[in-house]
Amino acid sequence: MPKAHALFPQGLHFNWFSQLDSTNGEALSGCWPEATVIASDCQKAGRGRLGRTWLSPPGQNLYFSLVLYPRLSRAHWGGLSLAAGVGAARCLDQLGVAVNLKWPNDLLWQGRKLAGILLEARDDKLVVGMGLNVNQTRFPAQLPATSLSLATGKSWRRDYLLALLAGEIFRFCSLWGQGQQQEIITYWKEYDIILGQEISVLRGRETLRGKAVNLSPGGGLILESQGVRHLLNSGEVSIGKCME
Ligand code: BTN
Repeated sequence: MPKAHALFPQGLHFNWFSQLDSTNGEALSGCWPEATVIASDCQKAGRGRLGRTWLSPPGQNLYFSLVLYPRLSRAHWGGLSLAAGVGAARCLDQLGVAVNLKWPNDLLWQGRKLAGILLEARDDKLVVGMGLNVNQTRFPAQLPATSLSLATGKSWRRDYLLALLAGEIFRFCSLWGQGQQQEIITYWKEYDIILGQEISVLRGRETLRGKAVNLSPGGGLILESQGVRHLLNSGEVSIGKCME
């Protein structure tokens, strides 16, 4: 088991590992209390959405998971992904990086993926995992990815970033749980990149095409397709009528 040590105070409990298979995996399987942050310098089997792999090389980026025990009915947990995205986007905005949010939980900079968020649940525990490209400057050619370093031309300290991001994600997830869903959706719209656009949404093997018209009060996406409105709670969005 890699050695973990506490990094910061702040109401959150930080644990930094030199290597894990997946911070989400550790957060889900370990007996960690509310407000624990599990971060790792690298991941051997980083998990992305839709069963994808999240490439997690050492010494460059942030990979971390926040442990929550939401006092909300399970049907409302999905909206916490929006809350986490808003917390992360506002944090980066305050650091001078103008990001956009792509429903349900991608952070983009100039159309390229800067960070992704993956929520996973087990029993009454919810884990909010985030991968943020920080100082990496080369990516596989097929990935439309970017990093804070490419966006700003400088290198970033990962420890401060981790403290600030985890703090804001925790704050906005708490606000969501305290009934401030509408305020969070309003914040989301300041950063949103898809509303009003023609989009394609991949859901399993099905692709729905239409216009992203709004977000529901619970954080779902309302898509209008051939005159019919659909409420989507998950899916992979591409902007434009064709899949990218
Ligand atoms: C996505 O596919 O966009 C979501 C990627 C989430 C990656 C992060 S890295 C930290 C945490 N641990 C994981 O295994 N995955 C998430």
